Amino acid sequence: MEYFTEANSVAAVDERMGPHVEPRLRTVMSSLVKHLHAFAKDVELRQEEWELAVDFLTRTGKISGDERQEFILLSDTLGLSMLVDAIGNRRPAGATENTVLGPFHVAGAPVRQMGDSINLDGKGESCLFNGRVVDIHGAPVEGAKIDVWSDSAEGYYSVQQPDIQDKWNNRGIFVTGADGAYEFVGIKPVSYPIPDDGPVGQMLAALGRHPNRPAHMHYIVTAPGFQKIVTHTFVGDDPWIASDAVFGVKTSLVAPFDPVKDGRTQWHSPFDFVLTPL
Ligand code: BEZ
Ligand code: FE
Repeated sequence: MEYFTEANSVAAVDERMGPHVEPRLRTVMSSLVKHLHAFAKDVELRQEEWELAVDFLTRTGKISGDERQEFILLSDTLGLSMLVDAIGNRRPAGATENTVLGPFHVAGAPVRQMGDSINLDGKGESCLFNGRVVDIHGAPVEGAKIDVWSDSAEGYYSVQQPDIQDKWNNRGIFVTGADGAYEFVGIKPVSYPIPDDGPVGQMLAALGRHPNRPAHMHYIVTAPGFQKIVTHTFVGDDPWIASDAVFGVKTSLVAPFDPVKDGRTQWHSPFDFVLTPL
């Protein structure tokens, strides 16, 4: 038996695990300890830095609750959410890619008629969103549910302003028919900062990072027999497109936003969703 030393630290912790640990837990915890110790050795972590980290994580926990999840925001801003999503959602070429869910989805949005508007407050630049939901061979998918949500013209989701916005402002669910087509009216979304009045905001400021997300429309697309898509479409000429605070932008998700002359809306954003079979 060897006591713990700097040199044998990883093995010392690893060997404490019992013989009947669930295999995946053993793999994950062994690797976590290996990388944590390597990190501490790499930077020669100082006592006061470790205390600062403990205080940071304590504050991250204290500010979290039903209304706010600062740990997910931390994961988002460190690129971990996008990495976990990429690992879990490798898809064939041409299939619509995932991106980060974010904290502002509300389950149970009203199911609206094709072509309806989700913009209940009438503020913002109107935009027609349309396209088709298809499989990887281009065949239309009937009965696909498209759950959409965006921020308001002022850059706030309805749940951030419960006294100002209707709960379902800029939200709705659309269900495709036999042609797989969808169409709805919303606003051309605007960029906004992620909540930055907590520990994560302090971290971003200390690192010289801004908290902004480029303008985007959120989607969850589901259909029987297909993988769930959690994604956005992005406005390509947004000033933050190349420096999204949560690393959510992918080339394939940058959608056209074309000005419309003499139409029902000021903008038109076409986008097809290509589903991957289960
Ligand atoms: C969002 O797009 O709604 C979002 C994503 C990650 C963190 C904060 C907000
Ligand atoms: Fe968002």
